[in-house]
Amino acid sequence: MGFKEKQMTMYNSKIIGLGHYVPEQIVTNEDLSKIMDTNDAWIQERTGIKERHWIAEGSEDTSAVMGAKAARIAIERAGLTTKDIDFIVFATLSPDYFFPGCGVQIQDMLDMKTVGAIDIRNQCSGFVYAISTADQFIKTGMYKNVLVIGAEFHSNGLDKTTRGRGVSVIFGDGAGAAVLTREEDTTKGILSTHLHSEGAYADKLIVESPSIRNWVPELMANPDDISYFPYMDGQFVFKNAVVRFSEVIIEGLAKNNLSKEDIDMLIPHQANLRISQFIQRKFGLSDNQVFNNIQKYGNTTAASIPIALTEAWEQGKVKDGDTVVLAAFGSGFTWGSVIIKW
Ligand code: UT7
Repeated sequence: MGFKEKQMTMYNSKIIGLGHYVPEQIVTNEDLSKIMDTNDAWIQERTGIKERHWIAEGSEDTSAVMGAKAARIAIERAGLTTKDIDFIVFATLSPDYFFPGCGVQIQDMLDMKTVGAIDIRNQCSGFVYAISTADQFIKTGMYKNVLVIGAEFHSNGLDKTTRGRGVSVIFGDGAGAAVLTREEDTTKGILSTHLHSEGAYADKLIVESPSIRNWVPELMANPDDISYFPYMDGQFVFKNAVVRFSEVIIEGLAKNNLSKEDIDMLIPHQANLRISQFIQRKFGLSDNQVFNNIQKYGNTTAASIPIALTEAWEQGKVKDGDTVVLAAFGSGFTWGSVIIKW
């Protein structure tokens, strides 16, 4: 191969291993109604959620620990060992530490070589951004096997009183992981990824503190300051989500000369069952073409797509040759899609 040809060689990446982990403790809507003024009917009707997993007090689980557990499964299913992984991409909005990120903890927890590790801070779109990042490293030939993790430990940071019910009933803890590897056939694997952001709406879904702007002493000085709890303008986020989900799926399909009829499986970020159902109707997809598991896990943010993708794959709903679409929208605002030929 001549120098010029070598320069132009581009690979695709493909997912060869998937795994997920959720903490043992299940918290039902009924359980929540005992600690705040809420009820099963409201939560199910507005969100589709029946229960979620929250890390129990005293558990060793954290975002990094759960991520490592999911990653071990994904690596084993890929037929690889931790020594084969060339790079780690970790998506979370709930890292164990302000710094360093969870990616480096994975390098240590899985006893890996001193490979590079980065954290992606793109909330509900975190996994889509992480997959896209991994894909670029594989496409250029820089790395062969990249471990991608999405993990969230929400429950310790939620306002579990009636004051916080509009947000706290939605979120769950958990982790999912995928191993991506080089695919020489560029008609297979990840065909394209599409990323967007609109920072004008950063304050519509945010945890403001503690931050360097509003650090712990300032926070403690003002007992009325509850900016360390997540804030969400739910209806505004909802309205933007349905528009952006649609746009970014259409963008991904068009890029690959595909139409909505070509979608075998859509795995939307699990933000709200009503959002998924809206998208399903808009694209004319059957129940077999959209995978939802928010009923069991709530919104696990960066972990939601890899948990759903793992379950869909385990249930035989994602098969060789399928056109699989991943799509997400969330805080930032950020949104994105991934088009895959499985
Ligand atoms: O993953 C990142 C992206 N996130 C999303 O896409 C989420 C998008 N937004 C949503 O999913 C919805 O807006 C929510 C599920 C968060 C809220 O549903 P909603 O239909 O927009 O309800 P709302 O916030 O307008 O609240 C309606 C009523 C209020 O009472 P009043 O003012 O009408 O008397 C709330 O106080 O429901 C009340 N309410 C609750 N009642 C019982 C809010 N939370 C609860 C609750 N239980 N947990």
